[in-house]
Amino acid sequence: PSKLVFLGIESSCDDSAAAIVRGDRTILSSIVDGQTALHAEFGGVVPEIAARAHAERLDLCVERALAEAGADLHDLDGIAVTAGPGLIGGVMAGVMLAKGLAAGTGLPLVGVNHLAGHALTPRLTDDLAFPYLMLLVSGGHCQFLHVTGPDDFTRIGGTIDDAPGEAFDKVAKLLGLAQPGGPAVEAEARDGDALRFALPRPLLDREGCDLSFSGLKTAVLRARDGLVAAQGGLRARDRGDLCAAFQNAVSEVLAEKARRALQHTGAPVLAVAGGVAANGTIRTALQDVATAAGARFTAPPLALCTDNGAMIAWAGIERFREGNRDGMDLVARPRWPL
Ligand code: KG4
Ligand code: ZN
Repeated sequence: PSKLVFLGIESSCDDSAAAIVRGDRTILSSIVDGQTALHAEFGGVVPEIAARAHAERLDLCVERALAEAGADLHDLDGIAVTAGPGLIGGVMAGVMLAKGLAAGTGLPLVGVNHLAGHALTPRLTDDLAFPYLMLLVSGGHCQFLHVTGPDDFTRIGGTIDDAPGEAFDKVAKLLGLAQPGGPAVEAEARDGDALRFALPRPLLDREGCDLSFSGLKTAVLRARDGLVAAQGGLRARDRGDLCAAFQNAVSEVLAEKARRALQHTGAPVLAVAGGVAANGTIRTALQDVATAAGARFTAPPLALCTDNGAMIAWAGIERFREGNRDGMDLVARPRWPL
């Protein structure tokens, strides 16, 4: 089974991706064709544009992934594809391509839940056994998962409104910073005074591991409007201070909820994935929480934290090893809770 070679196809949001991964945890190739530029002028991902771009680009991603791996379709043992959740047009483009390839080659087809792909990534990048606690923090997702097997995920909390990456993006927008907002806010925050503005710590007073970020974004908006009214505009220092205060608030809330989630599950490892895991302040805070709880901390390299095909190929291998495979009736699902 360590010799299994899978193609993974991902198209659930704004990245067209394909990768070839081997069962011994070797990534033979990983191609990610992002669409940031296509959506930039609209201030967010436009589903119709994304769907068309995936349909146009995915087969080229697959060709490139095979070429870089020095493989052709006959070297594969299976085809894994994101079957949801996500923007339905993109997911359908991926599922149709995967079905066509499976039908043409006779290879097994394995549908993968995108969230499971993220949640199983630490087992691809690190020699990690079950169980572990996964914090998935991206532009579209925010949840704590207790992972006890390739198909066993228990959600023990998550956002009740925005995802943290979405909050970073919105804060960047209202401060006139570039998109994606996460890296821009982190850079601005570097020399900022986090204590100048007292922002809320949403849901900290409530028991459990649920999170909320939309009130935090609104608080930044109010602070900005206050400054604009008082000074006629924002100074560079104001931006830095607001970004630092916002980033600290997000980081503190994530850390406290992670502490509770570790305590609740008794998990020996805290793993993170998703684009927000790139944030240095947040990463350090989570690492500290894990250390204090006597748990190990692991985070995949950034390229595997954000959307990619390798995580889908790997999740496909894990599911296939458990005896799971899908037929030509595999459907694309816009919603698919773990
Ligand atoms: O996982 P991802 O690439 O896409 C999905 O949302 O599925 O995550 C992208 C999100 C964006 O909202 C982006 O602003 C955020 O991750 N992000 C960051 C940082 N880098 C990316 N957020 C905070 N700090 C960062 N350094
Ligand atoms: Zn994702």
